[in-house]
Formats: sequence, structure tokens, C-alpha cells
Amino acid sequence: MKRLIILLATVLICASANSQIIHDWENPDVLGINKLPYHATLQLPSKIRECKEIVSLDGKWLFHWSKKPDERPADFYREDYDVSGWDKINVPGNWQTQGFGTPIYININYPFFRNRPSVTTEPTDKSWTAYVNRNPVGSYVTFVDVKPDMLGKNLILHFGGVHSAMYVWVNGQKVGYSQNSMSPAEFDVTKYLHEGKNRLAVEVYRWCDGSYLEDQDMWRLSGIFRSVELWVRPTVHIADYKVIPMLNSDYSAAEINAEILVCNTGDRMAKNQKVVFNIEGKDYQYVIKKLPVQDTVKVALKATIKNPQLWSAEKPNLYPFHIELFSGNERTEHFDYQTGIKKVEVVGEVFKINGKNVKLRGVNRHDHHPITGRYVDDKTYEQDIRLMKQANINFLRTSHYPDREYIYELCDRYGIYVMDEANHETHGYGYANDVMGNDLSFQKAHVDRAASLVKRDINHPCVILWSLGNEGGVGPNIEAMYNKVKELDASRPPFYDSDRRYSAIWDDSYLYPDDLRHNAQEVKDKPFMMREYAHAMGNSCGNLQEYWDVIYADSSICGAAIWDWVDQGLWQGDHYAYGGDFGDKPNDGPFCINGLIAPDRTPHPEYYEVQYVYQPLKFVRDTITGEISIINRDFFTEIDEYEITYDTVKVYEETFVNVAAHLKNDTPWAKKGFVVAKEQFCIESCVGMMIDGKPAQALQTPFGYVVFFQNGSVTIDNSGTLVSWVKNGEEILQSPLEPYFWKPENDNQSAAHFAERVAVWKDAAEKRVLKSLHTSSSDDALVITAEMSLPVGADLTVSYSFYNIGLIKVEMDYKPTAQNLPLMPKFGMRMRLNPDFVNIKYCGRGPWENYPDRKHSAFIGEYEMPLSDFQTDYIHPQDNGNRCDVWQFKIGSGHRTVVIDGCQPLCIRAWDYGEEDLAGARHPQDIARGKFINLNIDLNIHGVGGTDTWGKRTLPQYTIDGNKPWKYGFILEAR
Ligand code: GAL
Ligand code: MG
Repeated sequence: MKRLIILLATVLICASANSQIIHDWENPDVLGINKLPYHATLQLPSKIRECKEIVSLDGKWLFHWSKKPDERPADFYREDYDVSGWDKINVPGNWQTQGFGTPIYININYPFFRNRPSVTTEPTDKSWTAYVNRNPVGSYVTFVDVKPDMLGKNLILHFGGVHSAMYVWVNGQKVGYSQNSMSPAEFDVTKYLHEGKNRLAVEVYRWCDGSYLEDQDMWRLSGIFRSVELWVRPTVHIADYKVIPMLNSDYSAAEINAEILVCNTGDRMAKNQKVVFNIEGKDYQYVIKKLPVQDTVKVALKATIKNPQLWSAEKPNLYPFHIELFSGNERTEHFDYQTGIKKVEVVGEVFKINGKNVKLRGVNRHDHHPITGRYVDDKTYEQDIRLMKQANINFLRTSHYPDREYIYELCDRYGIYVMDEANHETHGYGYANDVMGNDLSFQKAHVDRAASLVKRDINHPCVILWSLGNEGGVGPNIEAMYNKVKELDASRPPFYDSDRRYSAIWDDSYLYPDDLRHNAQEVKDKPFMMREYAHAMGNSCGNLQEYWDVIYADSSICGAAIWDWVDQGLWQGDHYAYGGDFGDKPNDGPFCINGLIAPDRTPHPEYYEVQYVYQPLKFVRDTITGEISIINRDFFTEIDEYEITYDTVKVYEETFVNVAAHLKNDTPWAKKGFVVAKEQFCIESCVGMMIDGKPAQALQTPFGYVVFFQNGSVTIDNSGTLVSWVKNGEEILQSPLEPYFWKPENDNQSAAHFAERVAVWKDAAEKRVLKSLHTSSSDDALVITAEMSLPVGADLTVSYSFYNIGLIKVEMDYKPTAQNLPLMPKFGMRMRLNPDFVNIKYCGRGPWENYPDRKHSAFIGEYEMPLSDFQTDYIHPQDNGNRCDVWQFKIGSGHRTVVIDGCQPLCIRAWDYGEEDLAGARHPQDIARGKFINLNIDLNIHGVGGTDTWGKRTLPQYTIDGNKPWKYGFILEAR
């Protein structure tokens, strides 16, 4: 009893001790301390460096990393604390990508033990990264040089983004605190700075209560990851401005309403402050006669633009403007910006831009760089936007938080519609959970994220929709965000996926094309979109055209955005890392490798399919008259703004007309001549190769038949298999030419249980049973026929016709005898050549990898490339490299070439490793290469699929029915 009382007493003491320390970073009520109000980006990001009032504090800072708060150097902010032995770290940057702590890649679950608002509760699983590293802390120190002419000014410390919470001290004095990682935080540090060297100390926590709203599917990284600046401003200055154009109903004029906030941070009354809004070379101005100390005044100025040139993604017409402040005659502040005049409307079921039912050809993008993590430099931004424009993408969703300011400027200039998303996801409580949407202690935090989004980016013409977040809660907290967005900006509608009451557009994502058609018809009161579709993980993006056939046919579907833009791989010496590669736990493996482009921005094959399917022009050819007509999918661009070219090309025995629409002029994203749209029409098809030969000679031996022809021989063994092929005394094969029906999975197929569903085909060919082997002769060939049965329930006949001129025609004929056979992964044969066959030349679809459900962009042509370019090294190894509609395939070793001619178009894959080598390889360099060349020669192959990666399947028209008869043939020759 006594023991129990003592125990109880200790528990009570602990509890009360705990209840006294409520950390700001575990208190959803504290979002910031001494933070200045959010405001619009004041200066165009590309011009920031020209402003001498903006002093960059970026560079190498001193750094100390602790694995938990208790271990942090708590008094490091003091001026006398010795930091001389500390490490150096780049600001901006994440600490995990610079050797401190562990990057964690996780999708849905929180990386720490879920127990809000605590982020330091002991995880039940001791293997979690967060078990030992229980909320790491990064302590940063740098020194700021304050020049004499800065004194007397208003000094503002600006952080572009800090993950996830921070305290700030200047010269040992506490300045404030902030969370909300993806938005700027500003503090007035005027009173803490002095002339000379000043010490700036920042303490950053990996997780805080705000992390409960930052559960996005991405690498979980921390630190001061965006730029830090000191703004040296006049005491009376422009605190904020908002420039919103309003078009009249017939678009003949626009009112540009500028609302400019001027504040007086000085210690005496300000007089005669002139505010100027300059647009189209004209000044609109207002003089503030008196502005008392600590006061802020709003000035409203209005300009009218007659016959405005509207802004759209197609024609990004911008109106540059500047905003200035004069004190008497002296210009004290000057900001440059740009606006665009457009109208965004939801009219019943239709989403309209400038009155037109535009289609949003979209992509989702994470702010990701393989080396610098969450910090993406300007060059990479420019490359991303350029590549998007070149792929005919006109819509970007900044999944799932506001990006760095510069990307919005680029979208304004290059022309991309943007859905700007609030930094809000609570997926760890479930999709559309009613926990976080209802927990009122988190309401302020929700609203803070909506406000910071709209306030910063309001002046960007590219923004057409404000997204309240992704995969968050339902309930009053969402309603409060929605109301906030509406209050701050009436010119763009709010969007939200998880609680449709608070969205102007109905989102339903990752649907099959047929379900998209159907569901969009059901929804009658709002436009419809898939904010995410076509999960581009690994070898994916099949059936894109099917989606767009549905989207173009229904005016209520305003578009769809692919998941997602760039593979989120982190460079790890010799490969791109994904979940688990850093020992991070829990993790979601390669689920972050879903991009259309690689981390270094090299396009994947599927990028080109997007480019084709998203093209603004569609070409149609009348098969009778041969006339080609053009359908324009765009609204603000005429067809004659492109140069259209027609080329007749002959490939193998086929003739094509290739049509292309080229840019007539240079644009910021491509040069004159760039192909924006293209099509290929076959006007003369091929019948296949005619062979003019005589039968070869065969010799029956105890091991089978040996056939002799020009400079070579072939052996068909007693099982009916082509086991040897000798040319000029040299054996070409490393393993026989055999029927083979298996293909390894791609990422899309694993969760759809492809391998299990079609498992019987894995060794179906290996288990073939010979029924008869016989020879016959025709006028031109000697024929050896192997009749076999497959235990899965089918008859299979393989016949070889040998011609004296050295040709072998191989034909395979499949007839199912059983019923309900599963889909066939592929129908064809396989052989392995010596490893020196690495030069490829072929007539078929290319140059990039293509599959039956992803081949529109790959035109038929004659292509030549090394094997290393023919196969695709996916970051997570999987099936790859197919080429469809191949009439001829040549693979050479330098002195010897194997030539394959189809009796009909073939599907071909060539690798320097085997199917078995892909299994279990986590990264391309784990694959054992170079033992042989694996060559699959097929009639057809199962499509890559393209709906999602968690269960949906390849569309039936791109699969191979095992219950139907199939046959094909090809001709082999060694040269
Ligand atoms: C979506 C989610 C994305 C990503 C994707 C799967 O539902 O919004 O953030 O997780 O699934 O890659
Ligand atoms: Mg999620």
C-alpha cells in the first residue's frame, strides 16, 4: 500500500511537472511570437538581387545538430557561447541532405508517434527513426554586418521557409518564434541590431504541432531551406499591396484595383507620403498627409485599361507595374511587379477562363531537388517550367504547399495556370478524416495556412484556384479556411479534395477513363476534375489518350493533373535513394519515384506521351480523300500561328505522312521551329518480307536435327528447341530460342497482384511437352515442326523453315484447350545472345520506349542506338524497354549482326541482364549485367497500365487473353 502511494505521488508530480512545460512547438495555440503579418511578395523574385535594400544572409552558417530537444545546447543563443568548433551548413538547405540526421520518406503515416499535439511521444516500435531521434533540433548561428547607413532604418528579418518551427535570437535577445514551414516568416529586428557584427541565432525543431498539418507524401526534411534576408527599409514603408484586375462583362476594359498598405514604424509622425501606382506608363497617386506613429493606412488607387490584352496560359500577356513611395520629393521605396488580366469563373458545371471552357492539362509537382532536397534553385525552376511548356502542360498544382516565389513569376511569364495549394495535409488521420477538421484547437492553425497562401501569392496572374490543401480533414476547420480564402480574394475560387462542400470544383481522382466519364455525368452542380490521375510511378502512363478522349467530350470536366512531375530521388553517391535507403523507418520505399522526369530532370519515356496527348492540335486524315484537317483544342491561339509541315517518309516497306505544327517564333520556353503538335498517318502498309530461297539441308543426329545453310548451321534438339545457331564457326546463342510468356512486373502491377494472377505463365513454356517433331519440305524451305502441349491447357506448335540462303522463319501457333486461362503477360519467344551484341538499329516505334497502351508519341521510323539507350534504367528496376510495331530489328556486335524481320509487327525488348536479375534489385546498379543479351521477340505484351499503383489494372484492350488463339512469326538471319 505504501509503495503504491509513493508510486502514485511520483506519477502525480511528473504529471504536474509536465503540465507546466507546454512547449510552443507542441501547442497549436502558438503559431508565432512577434511574427509580422503575412503579406504579398513585394518585389519580383527575379529582381530581388537588384535591390540593395535586400541583404542576403544566405551562405555558410555555423550549425549544431542534436537528436532530441533535451540534448540541444539550450543557451547557444548567448553572445558568450562558444560556437567556434561547430560544423558549417549551407543556408538555404536541409540538414538531412548535408549529413545531419536521417531523411525519412513516408507517405500516409506520421513519421513520429501520433499523439497530437505531442511530437515527442515514445514510439511503440523502437526501430523507428523517431525513437532515438526524438525530434531533432538544429541550432544555427551566423553574423550579420550592420553598416552605419542601416541605422535609423526599419530592419526586417525575412525567412523564406523553415521546417518546421524556429526560435530566433539577435545578440542574445529573444526575437520570436514561428511555424508553418512553407510560408515566409518575418520579424522586426530594428531594436536588436547595432552597428558592426551582430549575432543571429536560430533554433529549428524537426517537428512541432504544426507537423500534424504537414503530413504530405514526401521526403520529411528539416531546416532553414529557403533564403534568409535582411530588409533595410525606411521607417515609413509599404507593408503590403494587392493588385487585382477586374474585367468588365464584354472584356472591353479592365479596372486595376491597387490597394497599398503603408505603415509608419518610426517614432515621429510622417507627413506628405506620396504613394504611386504606375501601370502602362501612367502614374496613379495619392498623398498621405499624416501617418501617425505605429499606424498603417490603406490607399486604394484605380487604373482603367481599355481593350486589355488578356492573360492566359496560351498568351501570357503581362502588364508590368511598379509601386513607389515618396517622402516629399525623395523616392524612398520602389517595387516592380506584373499583373495579368483574366477572368476565372465557374458557370454552372463549366469552369471558364476568359469566358472559354479551357481544359487544364495538368501535372502535380513537389518542390524537390536530388541534392538540395526541398530547396530548388532558380535554374531548376526555369528548367521545370520550360519542360512543362514543351510538354504542352498548361496547369500546375503546387502539391502540396506553396513553392518558392520565383516559380509563380515564371508561370506568369511562360503561361501556366496554377492551382496554389495551402500547406495542409492530415492524411495520417485518414483520407477526409473528421478528426483534424473538427479539432477546434487546430482551427487557428488551419486558417493560418490558408491566409499565408493567399496573402503571399495574390498578385500572381497565373493563380487560378486556391487549394485548401490535400487529403486533410472534413468539418468546421475546413469551413474556416474556405471562408478565409473567400474573404481575402473573390477573384479565384477555392478548391478542396476532401470536403467537397468547400470546393468550387468536384474532385474525384485516379479513376479509370470509363469511371471518369460516368462520374462526371453524375455530378451536375459543379465542374469536375481529377486533381490527380495517371500515377506516373516507374514504367507507367498507359491509356492517357483514353482519358483525354473523355475529357474533351464533356464540357463539365475541366481537366486533370498527372501525379507527378519529378521523381523524388535523393542522390546517394552512385544512385538515387528512396524510402529506406537511409535506414529511415517507417518508410514507403520507392513510392516517391513517380515522376515524368528523373530527379536530374531527364525526361522519362512517358514524358513524351504526355507531350503528345496534351498537344493543342489534333490532326485527322480522311482515308478516302487523304485530306488532313486540324482541330484546335486551344481558345486563344489560331492554327495559322503555327507553321504546319508535311513529310512523306518510307520506313521498311511502309509509307507515312508525318505532320507537325511548329512555333513560328521564339518563345521563352522553346525556339522557333519547336514541334508543338504532331501526327503520323500510314498511307501504305507493309505485307512483310518475301523470301526467295531453296530448302536447306538437314541431318538427323542422336541429339536432334542439324540444319546446314550458307556459312552456318542450326540445331533443333529432340525437344524441338532451337539450341544452337552457328555462323562462320561462331556460336551466337548463349541460351536457346524458346517460347516464353513471362514478363516481370512494373510498379503499377505489384499491388494489382499481377504476378499472382498470371503466375501460371511464369514457367508455362518451360513445362511444354513435345508431342511430335517432324520435318517436311516445300519448294523453298525445309520445315521442322514441333507440336507441343502446355500443361496450363493449350496446344503450341513451333515451326522452323530453313532456307539455303541462311534465313530461318520461326512461327508459333497457340491454341487454348482449357478454359478460364489468366491473361498472358506476353506472347512470344526469348533467346540470349553473347554479351557483345550492343548496337541496335530497328524499324518500328521509337526512339523512346513504348508499350501497347503508351505508344502514340513514338512514331514509326528507323532508329539506331546503343543497347544502353534502348533499355530504360528505372530508379526502381522493373520491366522496361519495349518497342512496338517493329518490322525489322538488328542487333550487332561489331563484326556480327542478328537481323529479325517480322511476319507482322513485333514487340521487342533487349536487355543486358535477364528477367531473374530484376527481381530483388533495389537500384539499377544492383542488377547483374553483362552475362548475355536477353532478347524478347513478341507478338504482343501486357500494357503498362496507368491509372494508379495501388490496385487498378491495365485496360482490357491492352492485355492478352489467354483463352484466344494467337500466332505470329519472324525471320532470323545472322550477318
Ligand atoms: C495521392 C496523394 C499524393 C500522393 C499520391 C500517391 O492520393 O495526394 O500526395 O501520395 O497519392 O503517390
Ligand atoms: Mg497523402
